Amino acid sequence: MIFNKLKEITDNLKEKYKKGYSLGGGFGKEGLVVYDKDNEKVKKMIDSGKYKVVYADTSGKPMKDVWSIPFINPVSIERIEIENNLTQKPEALLERIIKASSNENSIIFDYHLGSGTTIATAHKLKRKWLGVEMGEHFYKVIIPRMKKVLNGFVCGISKEVEFKGGGAFRYYELESYEESLENCEYKLDENSLIDYGKSRKLIKALKKGENICLDINAYDKEFDIFLTISNLLGLKIKNIFIDKNGIKSCKFENDEIINLENIDLIQYPKLRNLIWWEK
Ligand SMILES: C[S@@+](CC[C@H](N)C(=O)[O-])C[C@H]1O[C@@H](n2cnc3c(N)ncnc32)[C@H](O)[C@@H]1O
Repeated sequence: MIFNKLKEITDNLKEKYKKGYSLGGGFGKEGLVVYDKDNEKVKKMIDSGKYKVVYADTSGKPMKDVWSIPFINPVSIERIEIENNLTQKPEALLERIIKASSNENSIIFDYHLGSGTTIATAHKLKRKWLGVEMGEHFYKVIIPRMKKVLNGFVCGISKEVEFKGGGAFRYYELESYEESLENCEYKLDENSLIDYGKSRKLIKALKKGENICLDINAYDKEFDIFLTISNLLGLKIKNIFIDKNGIKSCKFENDEIINLENIDLIQYPKLRNLIWWEK
């Protein structure tokens, strides 16, 4: 910063100019923020002795609206092989965004992962991260890419941030209830139970009004049945426990208790949505 010597340089003033305007020469009325001390005009100002020079912290230089970051050239090792048009971004771009908006150990969340640049970069920058992707390329592109990152494959910002590999991640495949149910199959077994995991064709043979028991335990292996009931009925869960008969049970906020063997689809018609049902 260069300030007119006549002007008292207060912290307030420094603060103002830190946020202040751009580089270079030219005379501000009260002072000038200088990022480029080699600029000819600035040099002259300094040489004139009329100004007091206080160098600003250049790491605080304000960014312009348009960022000029080179795209990843087609043969760069940073470039990942992708079949569909995922518009892979340079890690340098994500680095800037992530550094500007988070600290080490912050959590970065990208719910449209695409090629996974956000999480690859976040990982190298020592952030925690979460990512979501619905496309098949999750397996073909993102997981292999993240494995390479953890393995220390040097590309993108690795050198600059001295990332040498390491770390861990977990991933899960989420399935909507509807999808789970679509994938379920049902069949009457010897005890007239509809047993999850068997042929769904047989359910078509059931007559209306026929007494049907549902093996809810089987659903419980796939997803959280009590939480689902809680959502469907709009009732909060008080506690989940094993009852005196050893059956997993749940007490809801209205003190109603449902155990995995007494779910009555007549009483709770909404729960029919839980199972695949002839339309
Ligand atoms: C343009 S890419 C995002 C790229 C990445 N965030 C980036 O900036 O480089 C968009 C991605 O979002 C995914 N996507 C779209 N809708 C989604 C959804 N509802 N849930 C998860 N992923 C989704 C697409 O499959 C695609 O891979």
